[in-house]
Amino acid sequence: MKRKIILDCDPGHDDAIAIMLAGKNPAIDLLGITIVAGNQTLNKTVNNALNVCQYLDLDIPVYRGCDRPMVKEKQVISSEIHGETGLDGPVFEPLEREEEEGHAVEFIIKTLRESEGDITLVPTGPLTNIAMAMRLAPDIVPKIQEIVLMGGCYQLGNVTPAAEFNIFVDAEAAHVVFTSGRPVTMVGLDVTRKVLCYLEVIERMAAIDNRASSLFCDLMLFFNKTQKEVFGWDGGPLHDPVTIASILNPEVLVTRPMYTEIDIRSVQSYGRTNCDYFNVTGKEPNSNVAIDINVDLFWEIIEKGIRNYN
Ligand code: RIB
Ligand code: CA
Repeated sequence: MKRKIILDCDPGHDDAIAIMLAGKNPAIDLLGITIVAGNQTLNKTVNNALNVCQYLDLDIPVYRGCDRPMVKEKQVISSEIHGETGLDGPVFEPLEREEEEGHAVEFIIKTLRESEGDITLVPTGPLTNIAMAMRLAPDIVPKIQEIVLMGGCYQLGNVTPAAEFNIFVDAEAAHVVFTSGRPVTMVGLDVTRKVLCYLEVIERMAAIDNRASSLFCDLMLFFNKTQKEVFGWDGGPLHDPVTIASILNPEVLVTRPMYTEIDIRSVQSYGRTNCDYFNVTGKEPNSNVAIDINVDLFWEIIEKGIRNYN
C-alpha cells in the first residue's frame, strides 16, 4: 500500500532532494507539493519546485501557498545558504511547467476533507501553510494521519543559538502544529547534522549517471560550498530528505517521545523548540523527536531513490 503524502516545502536545495526522493517512489503516493516562502521568497520557491518537477519529469501538482509568516512582520530568507534564486547551482531548461490554480492551503484542506484520514503531511519549510489550514478548517485536523516535519532542535540552533530556521521563520505556525494534538515526528538538526553530504557521497551518487544523479550533484556542490562558508561543514547536512527517508524506512531514525513547546514569547530564544528530553515538566509528550539516525541506511535510501529515475 503506497503511503499518501503532501510535501509542503520551500525549495531550497535539500527540499529539492526531498521532492526527488518522494517523486518517483513506488512506496509513496505524492498527492501534491505545496510551497511556502522560506529559503527564498515565494515566487522563487514556487519556480524552484516547478523547475525540479519539470527536470525530473514528475507529473505532480504544485500549489502556491503563503508568502509570509502568520504574525511576524519581518520575513527571513536564507540566501546565504541557497543563493539568490534559492536553488543556485543547477541550470534548468526554460520553465514551461505551470503551478496549479488555487491556494496551497485550500488544496491541503480539500484533499484532507476528501480523504479517509490516511494522509501524512510532510512539511520541510516554515509551517505557515499547515497552520493556516488547521485554523481555517479545524475539521481537517483529525483527518491528518501524521505530521513528519523537518524542523527544530533539542540542542543547537542554526539561525540563532536557540532556534532552527523553519521554526524561527514562523514560530506561531509551529505552535499551532505542535498543539494540534496530531502525531508529530520532529526531524531536527540533531539528526540531520549527522548526514553530511561529503564529496565521496556526491561521487557515489554521480556514478549512478542519470538525470536525478546529475541534479543531485549540481545541487549538492553548491550547497556544500555555502555550508562550508557559513558553518564550516565539510559536507552539507541533508536536512529535508530525512523526513521522506523515515517514511520509506522508519528504522533509519531513533525517536523519543517528548513534550515540545515552541517559544513564541522571548526575543533571544524566539522559535526555540523546547523539547522535554527528561520529562521534567511531567507533561504528556506531543511529539516523537528524532535523537539518532542510521547514516549508512540513509545514504542507501538516497541512492535507491536516485536509481528510481533510471
Ligand atoms: O534548518 C534547515 C531547514 O531550513 C531546511 O528545511 C532547509 O531547507 C531550510 O528550509
Ligand atoms: Ca526546507
